[in-house]
Amino acid sequence: MVNIAILASGNGSNFEAITKYLHKKKIARVSLLIYDNPKAYVKVRAEKLKVKSVFIDPKKFKGRREFEQEIIKTLKKHKIKKIALAGFMRVLSPYFVRQFPMRIINIHPSLLPAFPGTNAIRKAYQHAVKITGVTVHFVDEKVDHGPIIWQESVKISAKDTLKTLEAKIHKVEHRIYPKIVEYFCQAKIKVNKRKVKIG
Ligand code: GRF
Repeated sequence: MVNIAILASGNGSNFEAITKYLHKKKIARVSLLIYDNPKAYVKVRAEKLKVKSVFIDPKKFKGRREFEQEIIKTLKKHKIKKIALAGFMRVLSPYFVRQFPMRIINIHPSLLPAFPGTNAIRKAYQHAVKITGVTVHFVDEKVDHGPIIWQESVKISAKDTLKTLEAKIHKVEHRIYPKIVEYFCQAKIKVNKRKVKIG
């Protein structure tokens, strides 16, 4: 069975959705959670789901390189070959990404390349676009840029508030990300340049 690690910084609702889905289907195992924020609720979710979690404190390291080296060391120690980012609030450097080429995926709460970076749901809402959505993509050396694996649109209606829009986006995330992680673990996602094929 493939062992996957999840890197997260916050609430962890995607971590929970992925873990429950994979463990129920017995396809792959989320064998490690790495988080970088001592207050992250994701840690509590990991405890409940009996997933080993490791807190790596960025403040303890001289710079980004040393911090990332510690993450890499931890991943190697746990024999992790594939990584899913789920609300990990840091940009991984090219040095890190090169250690896991096409073996890191991320979920982003907009239809990339629209609204990259932080606060994507709010930016889409404030821009008053009619359609936004969710993107799952490979992580490459540029921010929110790698080959797109899956996208799903979400309509913003006149009645939506930022809160209701966030809820709609998260609902889509929790439905699609576990399935994409499943295909990713089963090596069913093929990439040719930027073109991605599933199955
Ligand atoms: C999600 O909206 C995801 O798209 C973004 O960060 C958020 C994480 O939410 N990258 P959670 O921590 O999984 O609840």
